[in-house]
Amino acid sequence: QRSAADFLPPDADDLDQLRGAAAGCRGCDLYRDATQTVFGDGSPDARALLLGEQPGDREDVAGEPFVGPAGRLLDRALAEAGISRDQTYLTNAVKHFKFVPPERGKRRLHKQPSAAEVAACKPWLVAELRVVRPEVVVLLGATAGKALYGSSFRVGDRRGTVFALPEIEGIEGLAVATVHPSSVLRADDRDAAYAAFVADLAVVAEVLA
Ligand code: URA
Ligand code: SF4
Repeated sequence: QRSAADFLPPDADDLDQLRGAAAGCRGCDLYRDATQTVFGDGSPDARALLLGEQPGDREDVAGEPFVGPAGRLLDRALAEAGISRDQTYLTNAVKHFKFVPPERGKRRLHKQPSAAEVAACKPWLVAELRVVRPEVVVLLGATAGKALYGSSFRVGDRRGTVFALPEIEGIEGLAVATVHPSSVLRADDRDAAYAAFVADLAVVAEVLA
């Protein structure tokens, strides 16, 4: 089974080293159509690791996570919950943008990564967790939850609650689940969805207090 593990430097203990290696990852087919690998971004000393799904169109072009519309909403919600961006390390379960082939002149539309692609990319996430050793992992949506807890994970059952990280290579810490910021942008009642999102992030702020 092909995966990111084939591209992981042995004993990597530095994010720049991991980022450099991930740039050449061909652990699944998603590297073929995407512009570039979008590795995580933030301080190795961050106390909270925020886990999204995969880079979007804007992130694919910029090479950085959460710089598009979902990222702007996330920034605003973090500030409102009292969490500063430099307390956080931002990353995604899958490091390449997956999209539906665009019609002429149309924007590329995000397509959900498969469980196999999430599994193939997981070695990068585990390596990031080993370096950052966050006190809390914020699961932004179902793909993030499934990446760490398996396919039975449901955001609705857990959002806004604090629970233990799964046992992965001796990493210990807490997790808080919430929705993906993109789902707030798509919600019928955007104000209510945004308020609920900020309330979940306030739980993270309490863990960090
Ligand atoms: N959505 C994500 O899950 N991650 C990003 O980096 C941007 C949008
Ligand atoms: Fe490698 Fe992940 Fe990109 Fe697949 S999505 S090629 S496993 S970095």
